[in-house]
Amino acid sequence: MKTVILGIETSCDDTSAAIIKDGWLLSNITANQDVHKKYGGVVPELASRAHQANIIPVVDLAIKEAGISANEISAVAFTRGPGLLGSLLVGTTFAKGFALAKNIPLIDVNHLQGHLAALFLKEEGDTHDNPKFPFITLLVSGGHTQIIIVRDFFDQEIIGETIDDAAGEAFDKCAKIMGLGYPGGPVVDKLAKEGDPIKYKFTKPRIKELDFSFSGLKTAFLYFVRDNAKINPNFVKENKEDLCASIQHTIIDILITKLVTAVKQTGITEIAVAGGVSANSGLRNALIDEAKKRDWTVHIPKFKYTTDNAAMIAISGYHKYLNNIFASQSTTAEARLKM
Ligand code: KG4
Ligand code: ZN
Repeated sequence: MKTVILGIETSCDDTSAAIIKDGWLLSNITANQDVHKKYGGVVPELASRAHQANIIPVVDLAIKEAGISANEISAVAFTRGPGLLGSLLVGTTFAKGFALAKNIPLIDVNHLQGHLAALFLKEEGDTHDNPKFPFITLLVSGGHTQIIIVRDFFDQEIIGETIDDAAGEAFDKCAKIMGLGYPGGPVVDKLAKEGDPIKYKFTKPRIKELDFSFSGLKTAFLYFVRDNAKINPNFVKENKEDLCASIQHTIIDILITKLVTAVKQTGITEIAVAGGVSANSGLRNALIDEAKKRDWTVHIPKFKYTTDNAAMIAISGYHKYLNNIFASQSTTAEARLKM
């Protein structure tokens, strides 16, 4: 009997569904929500309405593209949290209804464990090695910045995290200051390729041990841009590549410095990166360089599975299924679900 998992992800502003069969990814469909662009950030009420409109066509397409029938699905895995409550409710409710109609088990997945599980995704033709437990992950997204010891799919220890903004937020807020639109991370990444990373210097925060802070950097960037724009109103327009390269360089430097400390403290040299910010080309290159220099084994998820997607929820759900870890119809969405 084949194990077929339908994964559902609706924690923020992406409606996504995926099918995993015996550990292999067959399809992953995501509907992005352009409606938020003009507001410069995700509007929760609009996000949940868009999820409602998108969820059925997205699931339908994921099943079709996988070339399976809905009756072959063994279990449905959904993101329980953390995320926006209204958004989570759409995926949770859909998953419950689907499981009830097909009389199959439900599996709840922590969104952050999903990002970690993305490192284990395999689709036809993939031959890369999986990370070996225990490994250290730098989890960097729009809502989280954490250094985690991953001992197993379900056993993780957070050894460092941000005390204020997440790394993705720092990218997004600095992009907003420059008027570059939302989400800013990918735009900063693109412009940074044409700029000088050491043209402008921003002070790095002094935060204890393995914790991070990005709110001071954002404020310093805001004042720097504002002061220069007073002298030259075209300052941002004329220097946006160097501004992007310099702020990106500073963020990456903060992340890598803490990661190096984590490796020294734990002695673990099997390293991974996950979450939306792991799409950043500068961060990916910095990790590869650091790995060469320090003899680390580094695992970087495929670009398309760095930002939110249901494939990561389905693979996490698959491992729960194999271990008989199930949810029930009374499992509720949790906006602040802890790992
Ligand atoms: O994991 P994710 O899709 O959603 C959360 O769970 O938060 O991460 C989204 C974050 C956003 O802040 C976005 O700007 C950032 O990931 N991001 C990037 C890049 N692509 C996405 N940041 C820097 N460079 C990128 N290429
Ligand atoms: Zn995420």
